[in-house]
Amino acid sequence: MATYIVLLGPPGVGKGTQAKIVANQSGLAHISSGDLFRENIKNHTELGQLAENFINKGELVPDDLTIAMIKDRITRSDCESGAILDGFPRTPVQADAAKIMLNEIGEDIDIVPFITAPDEILVERLSGRWTCRKSGHIFHTVFNPPLKEGVCDIDGSELYQRDDDKVETVKNRIQVYLRRTSPLIAYYREQGKLVEVQGNQAIEEVTRDLLDVLAKEY
Ligand code: AP5
Ligand code: MG
Repeated sequence: MATYIVLLGPPGVGKGTQAKIVANQSGLAHISSGDLFRENIKNHTELGQLAENFINKGELVPDDLTIAMIKDRITRSDCESGAILDGFPRTPVQADAAKIMLNEIGEDIDIVPFITAPDEILVERLSGRWTCRKSGHIFHTVFNPPLKEGVCDIDGSELYQRDDDKVETVKNRIQVYLRRTSPLIAYYREQGKLVEVQGNQAIEEVTRDLLDVLAKEY
């Protein structure tokens, strides 16, 4: 049996940061819907062109496009032992689709760590975020600074600030999260899969709590 973890939580809470650490330690694939969209935008694909307008406004990309993209990703060979889903599902329709696509390969979502932090912390984190152009490694000017300003510690590529991290767009992303994604908290709680993780602590402390939660399950 493979392991499928859904990381749930608002924009900026640290899903990508934690997913990369846990994927590295566990050998699970890291599937970030946001990274996949940004890769498509960078490569000027049709999907990228369709998605770009939604992303820059802080709105969600339509469910059908998102679901098709993840279905294609989840069936690749690096997901054989399972995956950490970061940013997907983000609506009840996507959650139903996630269940169906995993059931089709004899799998299911095992656990849903829900990372929480107050809104003002989210804005602070997103306004200082710098992302690596090559592989999406994540830094913060104050909380996780790179050794050399503007350069990724891991692969030496350039760091950039995401277009959707402008304060106004961030505020909309938080509203969109509350309206469209937060219903998934009850959805997974009812299935007994939701476990809360306190995101308002240092990166290593969140990792420790997250690994604890995952270890208790397996
Ligand atoms: P996506 O890329 O998924 O963005 P998001 O959900 O808004 O989440 P973020 O990536 O902004 O935050 P994060 O939780 O990963 O935090 P991070 O680890 O970077 O989606 C972007 C857009 O794509 C969406 O708005 C939508 O348009 C579209 N999209 C994506 N998925 C979709 C879907 N399923 N359906 C429809 N549309 C979809 O951390 C943030 C910062 O904080 C970093 O600088 C980091 O260094 C710092 N930090 C992290 N943890 C800590 C800590 N514990 N203490 C201090 N600083 C910390
Ligand atoms: Mg992210």
